[in-house]
Amino acid sequence: MSQLVDLVIFGGTGDLSTRKLLPALYQLHRHGLAERLGRIIATGRGEIDSAAFREEAHGNLRHYLADHHWDEAIWTRFRDSLHYVKVDADHDEDYTSLAACLDEDSAPIRLYYLATLPSLYGTICQHLERAGAVNDKSRVVMEKPIGHDLKSCQAINEEVATVFAEESTFRIDHYLGKETVQNLLAVRFGNPLLHPVWKNTFVDNVQITVAEEIGVEGRGSYYAKTGALRDMVQNHLLQVLSIVAMEPPASLDASDIRDEKVKVLRCLQPITASNVKDCTVRGIYAAGAVGGEAVKGFLEEAEYKDAEGTETFVAIKATINNWRWAGVPFYLRTGKRLSRRYSEIVIEFKKQPFSLFANDPNELTNKLVIRLQPDETITMHTLNKKPGLTRNLRLQPVELHLTDDRSDKDDSYDAYERLLLDAINGDQTLFMRRDEVETAWRWIDTIIEAWEETGMAVKSYNSGTMGPNASTALTARDDRSWYE
Ligand SMILES: NC(=O)c1ccc[n+]([C@@H]2O[C@H](COP(=O)([O-])OP(=O)(O)OC[C@H]3O[C@@H](n4cnc5c(N)ncnc54)[C@H](OP(=O)(O)O)[C@@H]3O)[C@@H](O)[C@H]2O)c1
Repeated sequence: MSQLVDLVIFGGTGDLSTRKLLPALYQLHRHGLAERLGRIIATGRGEIDSAAFREEAHGNLRHYLADHHWDEAIWTRFRDSLHYVKVDADHDEDYTSLAACLDEDSAPIRLYYLATLPSLYGTICQHLERAGAVNDKSRVVMEKPIGHDLKSCQAINEEVATVFAEESTFRIDHYLGKETVQNLLAVRFGNPLLHPVWKNTFVDNVQITVAEEIGVEGRGSYYAKTGALRDMVQNHLLQVLSIVAMEPPASLDASDIRDEKVKVLRCLQPITASNVKDCTVRGIYAAGAVGGEAVKGFLEEAEYKDAEGTETFVAIKATINNWRWAGVPFYLRTGKRLSRRYSEIVIEFKKQPFSLFANDPNELTNKLVIRLQPDETITMHTLNKKPGLTRNLRLQPVELHLTDDRSDKDDSYDAYERLLLDAINGDQTLFMRRDEVETAWRWIDTIIEAWEETGMAVKSYNSGTMGPNASTALTARDDRSWYE
């Protein structure tokens, strides 16, 4: 019989907890996957009791869950597992009250989820230890961002490591919880057909796009100090890149997969003052129209007038210096207020050395397109004969869909549901190891230093477009184009 896990959420009243964590935990109950989950103890600074918290949670869940996912019997079970304890991160006595609520006999494992300000992560862990609330079975989950550069990331990791061993530390990147990211591993390493072509002799370029329609919304003051490179590339895009580019792991165990991912990050060629203008583009959204609605530019929002040095868009040509990928550009781009919301990986294969067909040679490519959102699909773009009696043979595109259409899409699980379940079960495979996060920051820091050293401009782009013209030029200089 597996041991029960009590989950304590720091930041239990916050946006992440309300929109993502509590709905995902409810879904674990609904999907019958919560047998190891004991109590859920949300914390915050407010002087409320568990009854008030449950009432609030009820309203939020009704709002964020689809109506047909609502089940009174499941809610009743879920509600009974919900508790609230007031904890101000700096108040010793609050941790004593929290520790008093935890019962090692009924739930030997404690999972502490840090969904609050990263500057509080170290303090919280140290207070928990002083209050006797950490044992050798306790685990901690850390939300991004872990720092804003390598130094601050190392400081947070160091503080947390004084209390929790690396084997008990789970750093979340919710992109890794997406079904398609795991499917990418399955498709890559499960199909003998793909194995020989997954390298520079056959792959022409790789593109990773994470495009958002929304602007900075309520996160403007955080965003003004952060920018797209730190907010998105350091974690989501580099995580996806490392999975696309990694060598076959020795096994599917967490440490074997993470060993291979970190090797890719170590092989990223530094982007310095000498090449930063050729390899990166920074943009900031101006007014425009998204989804048919007029929207303001970032700097037009009164409170962010000073943010003109902040990029809301970044495009990068990354180079991986190893035998498999030498010579293959990895084009990365992410931005806000772009023309549509989608995340996609495109592996574009090399063209035939000589074309026998009447088509424009640029049409004659194979691509593997892995869509992460809004829908999760994997499609191989191939070519066959255009039907007809004409003498000149022409080819037409044909899509081979590698996604399981039989799965009940409506009941697919959210990335947070998967990651919470893995953390409850102690499986670290889909979480970032310390060296991965720090290696990613090292590469990002060099780009930021190069931007500062060269005074690289942030170019304006109209909301509702796919970023500044310089982004088109980034690929066009190599005789390539973004796959739209
Ligand atoms: N929101 C998202 O979609 C999202 C996505 C990815 C990562 N994250 C990360 O997740 C974390 C939380 O984000 P959020 O958007 O949920 O923030 P938020 O809405 O501002 O909530 C912050 C939470 O932290 C608590 N808190 C703040 N100061 C505290 C203190 N001194 N002592 C104890 N509790 C304190 C707040 O509780 P009270 O106000 O009740 O005291 C609240 O529950 C951040 O690190 C963020 O970067 C968020």
